[in-house]
Amino acid sequence: MLVTGRELLLDAQKNGYAVGAFNVNNMEIVQAIIEAAEETNSPVILQASQGGIKYAGIEYIASLGKIAARNAKVPVALHLDHGTDFDQVMLCIRHGFTSVMIDGSRFALDENIAYTNKVIEVAHAVGVSVEAELGKIGGTEDHITVDERDATFTDPEEALRFVKETNIDFLAIAVGTAHGVYKGEPKLDFDRIKVIRDKVGVPLVLHGSSGVPEEALRKAISLGICKINIDTDLRIAFAEGVKHFIKANPDNIDPRKILTPAKTRMKEKIKEKMHIFGSVNKA
Ligand code: G3H
Ligand code: 13P
Ligand code: ZN
Repeated sequence: MLVTGRELLLDAQKNGYAVGAFNVNNMEIVQAIIEAAEETNSPVILQASQGGIKYAGIEYIASLGKIAARNAKVPVALHLDHGTDFDQVMLCIRHGFTSVMIDGSRFALDENIAYTNKVIEVAHAVGVSVEAELGKIGGTEDHITVDERDATFTDPEEALRFVKETNIDFLAIAVGTAHGVYKGEPKLDFDRIKVIRDKVGVPLVLHGSSGVPEEALRKAISLGICKINIDTDLRIAFAEGVKHFIKANPDNIDPRKILTPAKTRMKEKIKEKMHIFGSVNKA
């Protein structure tokens, strides 16, 4: 069934687990996520980035997500990932998304608060959940110094002010993860997660979670992370599935045959994540 992000994350917060939010760009990815969620009885979030929406088209991606969610035996939210502007958020709400992220992390604090509030006023009026971001979640750079960490990681006092002055449903924080493939092992600032959790009260979101070791993910969840974003690990599984099949079957030209192993590998990866997140049997 199609539900809001808020209701999924409040249950996750209450019961000490995290909901996986997986990026979708086409039908096979949507199917892999839903099948994994149903087979593990997990709640799940399908999320589309602006790039994903541009690639598939808003009508296609929204229709795929809504049909998949409505027919699913588990609760599913349809979420906009890293929405950078008001119009993009409105487009997604108009097409039935039940949750949106407004990423104002490029702005100074006051401006981020004002921009986020503008989105919240409309989104909440129609029952759509809102995720905001504070701090700067990196690209793939690692080995950053402590000074640099303090400059880019989410400041707990700022997080407190942000949550007090907005009515956001969940907050994405920068605590040492980065989008894409890691060059070294990511080092999470666990103390910072705990301090922010104790101050703000809203469920916390971890971006750039592909490639983060299992133990670090479990610890982050125990300290207050309730939504975990995964894209790169699915891209890797998809690409490996396609490459492996084509290498073994160079003459096969059937897209269904080529994409089935990709879907199977993504599904296995998603199920593995759901076990780590503790969302199994929480639907
Ligand atoms: O956070 C970024 C996600 O991996 C989406 O990436 O903008 O290339 O779709 P994308
Ligand atoms: P990864 O691609 O590093 O898993 O990050 C996904 C993400 O944060 C989407 O918002
Ligand atoms: Zn992200």
